Amino acid sequence: MTAQLIDGKNYAAGLRARLADVVKKLPAPPGLAVVIVGDDPASTVYVRNKGKAAEEVGFISRTLRLPETTTHDDLLEEVKKLNADDAIDGILVQLPLPKHIDSQQVLNAIDPAKDVDGFHPMNIGRLWAGLPSLVPCTPLGSLILIKSVLPTLSGLHAVVVGRSNIVGKPMAQLLLQNDCTVTIAHSRTANLPHVARVADVLVAAVGKPQLITADGVKPGAVVIDVGINRGTDGKLVGDVDFNAVKPVAGFITPVPGGVGPMTIACLLRNTLQAYGARRAITLTLPD
Ligand code: GUN
Repeated sequence: MTAQLIDGKNYAAGLRARLADVVKKLPAPPGLAVVIVGDDPASTVYVRNKGKAAEEVGFISRTLRLPETTTHDDLLEEVKKLNADDAIDGILVQLPLPKHIDSQQVLNAIDPAKDVDGFHPMNIGRLWAGLPSLVPCTPLGSLILIKSVLPTLSGLHAVVVGRSNIVGKPMAQLLLQNDCTVTIAHSRTANLPHVARVADVLVAAVGKPQLITADGVKPGAVVIDVGINRGTDGKLVGDVDFNAVKPVAGFITPVPGGVGPMTIACLLRNTLQAYGARRAITLTLPD
């Protein structure tokens, strides 16, 4: 057996096209503001891609590039201005922020209704309570990919490897809401292959290159690789040893071209969701 590839790049392009179709029918375009502090090369590329993708689906895109020396208070002031700006439906502050800035305080300052990252404690709490909320983009994109190959998840055992606020924890909650039995494993889990091997759905989001090998994968499992690590040769590698796992899994996402492109597509989807909620317009969000 060899796993079928889940082509996230292609799926995300389709999702962006479906989002653009919804945007065309709106009375006014949604607005997305992305804030970057400093000039970290990786963050600069991510932010540029987010702005480009927003424009391509017909959003108004605003990128605020602030110097590394920006003070905590000045950044909070900028966030407050965006909160008050009616043309802006979504606000994303790119992480990581410079060390002199308290990231949590900045995230707390974003209007929860515009928090398209889903990182505000209000949205985290609403997600865990099963209330409507803005959901972090990477786990949302992963769930959409999982459902594209497994429409019904009820009763399946899902193992999430990783417990970050950005991916692992919200991913586990989304799978629980879809009636999976969920195990959260992490970097300190004893005998990880033994734990991971029970998974019908395995999500690797721990940030350790090629941690998941064939002995940690149940034959036929859906394997979602959220990891983006630089290999010793400079190439991108996931948290899954792709070549070793491919003959065992039923479905697998590649790195790059798997979950990554879904993150940006889901950021746009969240912005559209925020737009609808803020303006009390009922929208059917595409998956
Ligand atoms: N840095 C890396 N991933 C993310 C993300 O999803 N959102 C934000 N705001 N910053 C990030």
